[in-house]
Amino acid sequence: MTVLRLRGFEIHKTFLDHAAQQAVLGEIRSVVKKAPFFRPETPGGKKMSVRMTSAGEYGWLSDADGYRYADQHPNGMAWPAIPEAVLSIWSTLTGLDRKPECCLINYYASDAKMGMHQDRDEADFRWPVVSVSLGDDALFRIGGQKRGGKTDSLWLQSGDVVVMGGEARLNHHGVDRVRAGSSKLLPKGGRINLTLRVVK
Ligand code: SIN
Ligand code: FE2
Repeated sequence: MTVLRLRGFEIHKTFLDHAAQQAVLGEIRSVVKKAPFFRPETPGGKKMSVRMTSAGEYGWLSDADGYRYADQHPNGMAWPAIPEAVLSIWSTLTGLDRKPECCLINYYASDAKMGMHQDRDEADFRWPVVSVSLGDDALFRIGGQKRGGKTDSLWLQSGDVVVMGGEARLNHHGVDRVRAGSSKLLPKGGRINLTLRVVK
C-alpha cells in the first residue's frame, strides 16, 4: 500500500478497495437516512457549498452561533452511532484504543468546495483527525499552521484515507474543487468525505 507524506499529513492511497468503499458507503447511507444532510451557514451568514451531517456522540455544526460540536442534529434527534466499518479504519490506522466521538459526513456536489481552515474545535489536539474520501476526486490543499503562506495540493481519490496528526494536526487544509464524473461509486456523482475526530 502506498503512503504519501505531504506537509506532515499521511495519505494512504486506496486504503479501501472497491468492496470496502461500497461497504462503508452502505453504512453511511443508513446514517444519512436517519440524520439527513443539511446545508450549514458560516457564522458570518453565508451558506456553505457542502452538505453535512454527522454520526457519533457529537456532530459538528456551523451557524450564527459559531462553529461547535453538538449532541443533536438540527432536527433535534441524537446522531446515529458511528458505523463499525468506519471505526475500524480509525483503529487500524491510528492503533489507538480511544475511539472518535464524531464522524462528520460532508457531501460535495460537483460545484462544492471547502475553504482553507484548521480543525480546532476539539479539546485536545494530540488526537489525530482521520479523513476518508469516497466518490469523485478532490483537489486537496495543505498549508501550514499559519494562515496564508506556501501550500501543496494533491488529488484525493475514492478509498484514500488521510491521517492529520502529530506536528501537522493544526495545518490548514481545504478542498479547491471536485472532478465531476471521475468515480462511479456514488450513483448520482459527487464526493463524500468522512472525518473522524476525538472531541472531548
Ligand atoms: C475537512 O477538512 O473537513 C474535509 C476535508 C475533505 O473533504 O477532504
Ligand atoms: Fe478540516
